[in-house]
Amino acid sequence: MATPHPIAVIVGSLRKQSFTLKIANALAKLAPDTLKLNIVTLHDVSFFNQDLEATPPADWLALREKIQKSEGVLFITPEYNRAIPGVLKNAIDVGSRPYGKSSFLEKPIGIVSNSPGPLGGVNAAKSLQNILPGISGVIMGQPEIYLNGVGDAFDDKGELIKDSLKTVLKQYIDAYAAFVKKHNL
Ligand SMILES: Cc1cc2nc3c(=O)[nH]c(=O)nc-3n(C[C@H](O)[C@H](O)[C@H](O)COP(=O)(O)O)c2cc1C
Repeated sequence: MATPHPIAVIVGSLRKQSFTLKIANALAKLAPDTLKLNIVTLHDVSFFNQDLEATPPADWLALREKIQKSEGVLFITPEYNRAIPGVLKNAIDVGSRPYGKSSFLEKPIGIVSNSPGPLGGVNAAKSLQNILPGISGVIMGQPEIYLNGVGDAFDDKGELIKDSLKTVLKQYIDAYAAFVKKHNL
């Protein structure tokens, strides 16, 4: 069997009991064996500051390396105030630099938003679709996925127990695997 494509799964929430993190972990379990999903959390990524670009902090370099070593990037994000959380925007700013050398370039991108509420974080997903095109590889357009009502989807061990969610996550990660294959020839 061919070596699986390593995928950086960037988690847009720092919360210990984050639904976003649980969705990332569920996707890692559901992924076909053509992908190897590596969860990337953002607790250690310091604020982007253009003054530091000549001598970047080690945590920026570590994040960029994780992205550069991947063959695709999946963003899993909640919605904060109709946009993406600040920690995720900061990580994108860090990963997008130096100018013209974004670590996201040529990486096939997937976007998964979620919310315990009814709208599935759709505005966060749309924010990413606005932010990424100048600094990333091609973004998968279909299927779209905005996961609503995620509050009752996991048990107290963080395992996915909602079958309807499992079904759409499986469909999505299979489609993303085909997309990654197509764009990593
Ligand atoms: C600052 C803040 C703003 C929020 N804004 C939204 C919002 O615009 N839309 C939404 O659906 N949920 C919103 N929420 C609720 C989040 O969807 C909810 O807290 C969710 O659990 C966060 O994701 P996580 O579980 O991965 O940490 C907001 C929560 C916070 C803390």
